[in-house]
Amino acid sequence: MKLTVLDHPLAGHLMSDLRDVSTPPERFRQICRALTTLLILEATKSLLTENSQVQTPLEVAPTRILGQGLAAVPVLRAGLGMLEPVTELFPDVAVGYIGLERNEQTAIARSYYCKLPSFEGRFAICLDPMLATGGSASQALSLMKSQGATDLTMVCVVAAPEGVEKLNADHPEVRIVAAALDRTLNDQKYILPGLGDFGDRLYGTL
Ligand code: PRP
Ligand code: URA
Repeated sequence: MKLTVLDHPLAGHLMSDLRDVSTPPERFRQICRALTTLLILEATKSLLTENSQVQTPLEVAPTRILGQGLAAVPVLRAGLGMLEPVTELFPDVAVGYIGLERNEQTAIARSYYCKLPSFEGRFAICLDPMLATGGSASQALSLMKSQGATDLTMVCVVAAPEGVEKLNADHPEVRIVAAALDRTLNDQKYILPGLGDFGDRLYGTL
């Protein structure tokens, strides 16, 4: 298993605010962006770099620059809340979109949209804040692989053990980076303790 859970005091602090039922959507979106920045820094630690040099005002300095492109795919709709920090940090990122929606009764995700970039030579990141049963993430990763993605990382805010297990079974080579690993799922397949419905809290549709 390639699961990394953020171990940073700020990540824990932000998670506390994010989980809080009294946190309003505006603050929820702000925290989501801050947490995603931490998650993306962790997820892209192994990006390839190459030697370069620049002229400073005094002399030529040896530098290391990015040697590999990035592709990011948010899963609609909650994953959209994680996109802005990625485009801020990596302005040259290629962005694709996958629309998936869980059926409220069965918790099985239905795909309703897919537009993906070329993944050739690119480090690929799938953005979805909640890894619950893992059904949505597994479908999203399969779609990305079918378009040629090979170097894949799943970035989420909260992961449930059930979701991690499913991804490990369906996509054992995919790395998972999360801000928290929670206890379990309830009967409706919501993460416990979790934070409720991420999309609803992000967009004020409770
Ligand atoms: C949520 C979440 C994930 C999915 C996780 O989306 O953003 O995509 O559930 O659950 P799973 O691991 O059991 O598949 P939802 O289907 O509620 O759609 P939304 O983002 O449009 O609210
Ligand atoms: N989707 C959410 O938004 N929250 C959960 O707890 C599970 C799936």
